[in-house]
Amino acid sequence: MVLIRENDFDEMSRCAADLIAAQLKRKPDSVLGLATGSSPLGVYRRLIELYEAGKVDFSRAYAVNLDEYCGLPATHPESYAYFMKENFFDHINIKPENTFIPNGNAADPVAECVRYDHLIGWLGGIDLQLLGIGFNGHVGFNEPSRHFIDETHRVKLTASTLEANGRFFPDGKPPAYAITVGMKTIMRAKTVVLIAGEEKFEIVKRAFTGAVTPEVPASILLDHPNAAVIYTGKETIE
Ligand code: F6R
Repeated sequence: MVLIRENDFDEMSRCAADLIAAQLKRKPDSVLGLATGSSPLGVYRRLIELYEAGKVDFSRAYAVNLDEYCGLPATHPESYAYFMKENFFDHINIKPENTFIPNGNAADPVAECVRYDHLIGWLGGIDLQLLGIGFNGHVGFNEPSRHFIDETHRVKLTASTLEANGRFFPDGKPPAYAITVGMKTIMRAKTVVLIAGEEKFEIVKRAFTGAVTPEVPASILLDHPNAAVIYTGKETIE
């Protein structure tokens, strides 16, 4: 794993977008693992610019999202399905049928988790996984815990995550549960790119300068052979 410090959000976003564009140039039918939230917004904006300039082509790409809230309709403006269309998919030439996101409204969430893992396996796994990081060190919605969970699973979001994500909801209350891919999907991605803005500096430092621990799930990336953590902040993390 390497740590890359950039000067600001724009440079961080540009760096991550360039890695994704290079991945698609090398392998046009890449399977991209994608994230939502505020961190990747600049990456998606930059990729849209590159697409409009004819510098990147998504026509053969696949997109597999990390997670989705339980209990929000896909048309809800805060559902991750809606977020991805609004902020990315509707502006590029990816085929809608090549985009995947867990169904947070599945009548049988356990079956949905199994289906999602099979789907990722059927696609051949993730070529490049884009990640943000929670203030508590979560990746996807793999929350701090006493052990890493390998498989896609339904998770009760922690108080820290509910508080952080409350800003997106008019009543300040996100759904309490979500479906997230597990750590195996993330760790098996051939390349991982984690982006973290200045507000995440402390958790980035904690995650990547200590031991690997499920109490700080992102720390597992220390063991990934091809992961880049692109962060901004006043100091360089050694
Ligand atoms: C979102 C996701 C989460 C976010 C994290 C950071 O799909 O998987 O792990 O990346 O909560 O969120 P922001 O970027 O909004 O600070």
